[in-house]
Amino acid sequence: MGAVIIGCGKALPNLEVANDDLQALVDTNDEWISSRTGISTRHIAVDESGLALAARAAAAALGMDGSNDPTDSTCGWTTSPIEPSSIDLVLFATVTPDIVVPSCAAVVKRMLGLDHAVAMDLNAACTGFIYGLSVAESMLAAANGAAGAAGRNPLKRALVIGCDRLSRVTDWGDRNTCVLFGDGAGAAVVEWNESAPGIMASYLRNDDDEKNALTCANYIEAPQPFSAEGIDQAARATDPSLRFTDEALGIHEAVEAGGMRQVIRMDGRSIFKFASNAMTHAVEEVLRRTGCSLDDIDCVIPHQANARIIKFAAKKLGLDMDTFQLSIANTGNTSSASVPMALADAYVSGRVQPGDKVILVAFGGGLTSGAILYEA
Ligand code: COA
Repeated sequence: MGAVIIGCGKALPNLEVANDDLQALVDTNDEWISSRTGISTRHIAVDESGLALAARAAAAALGMDGSNDPTDSTCGWTTSPIEPSSIDLVLFATVTPDIVVPSCAAVVKRMLGLDHAVAMDLNAACTGFIYGLSVAESMLAAANGAAGAAGRNPLKRALVIGCDRLSRVTDWGDRNTCVLFGDGAGAAVVEWNESAPGIMASYLRNDDDEKNALTCANYIEAPQPFSAEGIDQAARATDPSLRFTDEALGIHEAVEAGGMRQVIRMDGRSIFKFASNAMTHAVEEVLRRTGCSLDDIDCVIPHQANARIIKFAAKKLGLDMDTFQLSIANTGNTSSASVPMALADAYVSGRVQPGDKVILVAFGGGLTSGAILYEA
């Protein structure tokens, strides 16, 4: 018995921005970007909200929308169309929520008529989808297991969404980061099945980001009419509390010098090192937890941050690159959307077949990392 993936889908924004197009913004070129990252183009949501992208991806995962052509901007795969009212739980992983109340998950629930679902958002940076799928699996297992099932919400099907518009937190004048990111949404439906193994193991981890290698300060925009002494209309212009956040993230000097606060800042080299080690470790952990070996694995669907990170991890693991789903060329790093979009690519193209053993693996800010091993 286990939580089985019965549908997945993705949605990419309309605007495609090629590497050379970025020369209008920063000193870069296609050769540098493609050779260092494997990225050729990325999609930017200009006239689309994150919620609209998420709803498209989720509708594709339910079989309500999208094509079965992996080159289409909205595409999906399902074992058979999924009744919206059969979804009991919606988890929405994101670091760039369009809104915070209601949750993005609650809005997608309303948009798609998922009348019986409970809904919440989750932030685990680029590992968000893996965390979300693992939380969904744990809740399904608890609700359908013998111990304590009677005291919980009945739960058979969960919709897990990963959606981000990193374009909104990218400094488009910083060539060290801006060439890496893109926007998108992906989703998967998992169902509790008494006679199939489904998700066999998950591994979640959080290493302290002591050196602030990957940060992005939050949006805090409502002006506060308070100073430390009490009501103070003049204080609306400033928010002294932001200084503590800036100091904690080590960005106060940059902000005081006029730099943007709410953008991704990254030490690329240390993230590269962390990422390749974290990926390798997470894959080894799910293999150990299931007793499987690398020979049993038909497909690895990794976070699409940099093709070189994936190659590095593949080499360390001793796995052929052909085992990895690579979707990065056309997307860039889309954070929480990255793994579920690559998952959709793998299913829609027919790469993942029933009975295959698949590993999903990701890493990101936090520093989060994690992997899931399942039987398709
Ligand atoms: N175009 C052209 N040149 C660029 C450039 C760009 N977009 N960005 C950086 N450079 C330059 C640098 O300024 C540097 O020049 P210098 O040697 O004259 O100082 C040179 O290229 C090499 O930079 P370096 O940082 O050593 O490159 P790299 O091989 O480490 O690649 C990253 C940089 C960001 C692609 C790589 O470190 C990386 O992918 N890190 C992980 C990032 C990531 O995945 N983050 C998200 C995690 S979820």
